[in-house]
Amino acid sequence: MSNNFRIVHFTDIHLSQIRDVRFSRLFSKRFLGYLNLRFKRLKEHSNKVAMNAAKSAAALNPDHVLITGDLTNLAFDSEYREVLSWLNKLGMSSDAISITPGNHDAYIKSVWPDGPFKKHLGRFCSSDDENAQRTTSFNGFPFVRDRGEIRIIGCSTAVPAPPFIAWGRLGSQQLALIQKAVMEGIKKNKFCLIGIHHPPQGGVTRWDNGLIDAKNLRRVLRKFDGTACMVLHGHMHKAMKGSIESECEKNISVWGTGSASLISSAQFRVLDFVEGRLSGNQLYCLSSERDEFIPVTRDLLGG
Ligand SMILES: [Fe+2]
Ligand SMILES: [Fe+2]
Repeated sequence: MSNNFRIVHFTDIHLSQIRDVRFSRLFSKRFLGYLNLRFKRLKEHSNKVAMNAAKSAAALNPDHVLITGDLTNLAFDSEYREVLSWLNKLGMSSDAISITPGNHDAYIKSVWPDGPFKKHLGRFCSSDDENAQRTTSFNGFPFVRDRGEIRIIGCSTAVPAPPFIAWGRLGSQQLALIQKAVMEGIKKNKFCLIGIHHPPQGGVTRWDNGLIDAKNLRRVLRKFDGTACMVLHGHMHKAMKGSIESECEKNISVWGTGSASLISSAQFRVLDFVEGRLSGNQLYCLSSERDEFIPVTRDLLGG
């Protein structure tokens, strides 16, 4: 059996589908979100670009796909149906696709946590040990999936927030479970890949769009060595490189990927592992000359 493992990281696909939405369902924060979508977001993001990204990624034969949130804009059923047809383009089973939610997927209180995300995407965020997940987890998160020599730990920072606020929170229960999942993963000789929507490093977000308990996550993760775990995040709509200071030898790498549907700079990231060690980290970006995603050599890192 080959010890090579390829993971594609997608995030912030923000698929829109508002044709069937009844006006009466917009009496909430969704009304402002709808205006933003109609007059701004639809000019910046494209379902077609995201579909193209899925097709390009599938051609790279990944073993696993990790999607770190903001799959929709307003968390409507119709948007999630669009997400399901996007996922179909990958041609992979739900065991090979892991999804964590973003702030847009918990857009208003009535959709979170028991709403369309869970209904349509629940099978993409189930733990291998579902009994343990049911009894110990916070709204089903973090989920833990062992794939080859990699352990995928999918966190939820999704919390319904007031208008114009895009913050996220893990909560103490989830933080304790993340720590446990990483400790157990290391004991089993797994490389732990932590998928989270909001960036956990300091100084990259504002008070109104950051991870409220990012410091607590950093406190948990700094007990581990950077050779045993890393973090992949979204939310910022641009490629980023950061790190979390570790008490061990090597700091923990934190990589952000930009939106896969952004017309100006759609992208996804490909991570290659050999025997549980990272051997390649390549960003693919939509080429402006050709209608396809190509590996980028120029520096796209925003910080
Ligand atoms: Fe986003
Ligand atoms: Fe976000």
